Amino acid sequence: MKISFGFNTIFVVLSCAWIAYASDPSQLQDFCVAVPDANSAVFVNGKFCKDPDMVVAEDFLKQGLNNAGNTSNQLGSVVTAVNVNQLPGLNTLGVSLARLDFAPYGINPPHTHPRATEAFLLMEGTLYVGFVTSNPADLNQKNKLFTKYLNPGDVFVFPQGLIHFQFNVGKTNAVAFAGFGSQNPGTITIANAVFGSDPKIDPDVLAKAFQVEKNIIDYLQAQFWSNYN
Ligand SMILES: *[C@@H]1O[C@H](CO)[C@@H](O)[C@H](O)[C@H]1NC(C)=O
Repeated sequence: MKISFGFNTIFVVLSCAWIAYASDPSQLQDFCVAVPDANSAVFVNGKFCKDPDMVVAEDFLKQGLNNAGNTSNQLGSVVTAVNVNQLPGLNTLGVSLARLDFAPYGINPPHTHPRATEAFLLMEGTLYVGFVTSNPADLNQKNKLFTKYLNPGDVFVFPQGLIHFQFNVGKTNAVAFAGFGSQNPGTITIANAVFGSDPKIDPDVLAKAFQVEKNIIDYLQAQFWSNYN
């Protein structure tokens, strides 16, 4: 009995050791449509790599994140991103960050990062933050909301792809920094994508989807859906 158990244990351990990982690499932007001719290509999955002999320290440096962003907009918040588009040295390295500034009662509206989890550190102010889970398997259950009030020094995690928001509930400015597990996390602001797309989504589609009269959709689509994040 004992010998048999030992053999089985070894067999299981060896089986696990042989598990191979074979899949396509994860995407580094929304899409990468193939072109037949390399000369007409713009980038690969990510960006092209600079000749290592030509790389300089400045390729890994981005300055100015000590400066507050300009929150004079209708949301009262602004995101200063430092991803591969601002800091080329991040290419292929799988991380990036951002500074977030909030005026009193400013909001970073519901949005998702399709390619990254976000670790969010509040430095100043008081924020009400939260995220919502994806649709549950059980038809009787609802998407679940997780929220917290954050104070300086608090870190909150927004899991990859989930809709989340941050709202300044204090009477002072708020400042936060966010780390992302992607060189290019991407942002989909829900209202902008749904009501502010170019061209517009057929209002009949949205009226049915949101279970409202078409004039409400017409109103929403007529708004100015600007992008500060
Ligand atoms: C902030 O943005 C507003 C609106 O675009 C602009 O009027 C204002 O001059 C900006 N302030 C600074 C300090 O850049």
